[in-house]
Amino acid sequence: MMKSSLLASIADKTYTIGILGLGYVGLPLMWTFHKKGYKVIGYDVDPAKIDCLENGIPYIKHLGSDMMQVLSQSDRCQATTDFSRLPEADALIMCVPTPLNAYREPDMSYVEQTTVTISKHLRKGQLVVLESTTYPGTTDELMIPILEKNSGLKAGVDFYVAYSPEREDPGNANFNTELIPKVVGADGPDALEIALAMYNAAIVKTVPVRDCKTAEAVKITENVFRSVNIALVNELKVVFDAMGIDVHEVLDAAATKPFGFMKFTPGPGLGGHCIPIDPFYLTWKAREFGLNTKFIELAGEINTAMPEYVIRKTMEALNTRRKSINGSKILMVGLAYKPNVDDMRESPTFVLMEKAEALGAEVEYYDTYIPVIPPTREHAAYTGKKSVIWSETAIRGYDAVIIATDHKNVDYAALAAWADLIVDTRNAYPGAADGRVFKA
Ligand SMILES: NC(=O)c1ccc[n+]([C@@H]2O[C@H](COP(=O)([O-])OP(=O)(O)OC[C@H]3O[C@@H](n4cnc5c(N)ncnc54)[C@H](O)[C@@H]3O)[C@@H](O)[C@H]2O)c1
Repeated sequence: MMKSSLLASIADKTYTIGILGLGYVGLPLMWTFHKKGYKVIGYDVDPAKIDCLENGIPYIKHLGSDMMQVLSQSDRCQATTDFSRLPEADALIMCVPTPLNAYREPDMSYVEQTTVTISKHLRKGQLVVLESTTYPGTTDELMIPILEKNSGLKAGVDFYVAYSPEREDPGNANFNTELIPKVVGADGPDALEIALAMYNAAIVKTVPVRDCKTAEAVKITENVFRSVNIALVNELKVVFDAMGIDVHEVLDAAATKPFGFMKFTPGPGLGGHCIPIDPFYLTWKAREFGLNTKFIELAGEINTAMPEYVIRKTMEALNTRRKSINGSKILMVGLAYKPNVDDMRESPTFVLMEKAEALGAEVEYYDTYIPVIPPTREHAAYTGKKSVIWSETAIRGYDAVIIATDHKNVDYAALAAWADLIVDTRNAYPGAADGRVFKA
């Protein structure tokens, strides 16, 4: 009875979608359901985000300002820090952070706190979905017991639980939340049916799997796959460079094989909230089973060694000018961890800056996506540092320019004309080997 009325309300769009955590994942998800005609309520502990949503002020650059305007003016969209309003939503979709702690172990505090909050307000018929990336077992072993204990309700009978990983690729012009097939695992057949009906109403395709832990494993597998393959091309970059071979030319040519090869691109190290972090959720969980994740560890080792390699290449490049890195003025182009977004979480540019400074260099950065560095946990020393003004005089004043992220809005032709020495970690200058551009 309850299930059929829930399915009916999804079908006739009287079903209300609640999103907890309105960041890079939660905000576009809220937008997607809103676009399809659903009432959406966003919950976040950060009052600044709620304020932005109420006033139509964009806080994630690549999502643009139109979306924020529409959401702020719609009577089908509300945003609040008041979690006592959780019962107003039929579905509660959690998109909260899952970082690593200081010991590189899963920091489940956000998921746990949010689950506790939900459990205090949980009502019959609600669907609770976790979208945060996590280790297999989180939904069943961590969330359901908290939800049941604090609410006195029974999962699969009184309320429903599912796990559906977010595969959002911020800044990707070809795919947004709506267009990326959604894997869904649930706690029992009723929960699965309801979760699938909800996502099918907003997303191009759903991919049901047998349970929550399988869905959790899918997401981790995707990110381990990326981490390992990025490590592989990073290793090949170092080896081929020593042999006088351009790794980018090799990869471009290899990518013409119509089967059995997938192109990954080397870079200055791993960045972002996902690839450097998520694989270690599996490493941690595998230990419970007495197992090691050797590929994950090795990939992590190779990828984290990349900034060191870039600095060594920079020292060699400066050496050709009879300069030492100590006392050199270095400009980092690109602070975001990948092109055309304002996300600087885990960005290797920070590591490059720290390493260059530790060797005595004077370092500045240029990134119009991040005009001022906001407070970060790991790189507090850079809080308030500003992107330099782009000008010929400024560029000519640097001993070396390191291209750490290849944003499209950088004038690379001008940079090539003005800079004395460029260390290119992103192949911004394909094929260049003119004594001024050094590949790293
Ligand atoms: N960013 C991506 O590209 C991406 C892609 C796929 C999956 N993921 C995963 O999705 C999850 C969220 O990532 P994100 O990038 O959106 O993070 P984010 O930091 O951009 O957003 C998280 C939001 O959750 C809020 N929050 C924290 N604690 C809360 C609580 N107790 N209740 C309500 N809100 C709370 C924060 O204020 C913030 O607004 C992570 O598990 C991440 O690994 C991220």
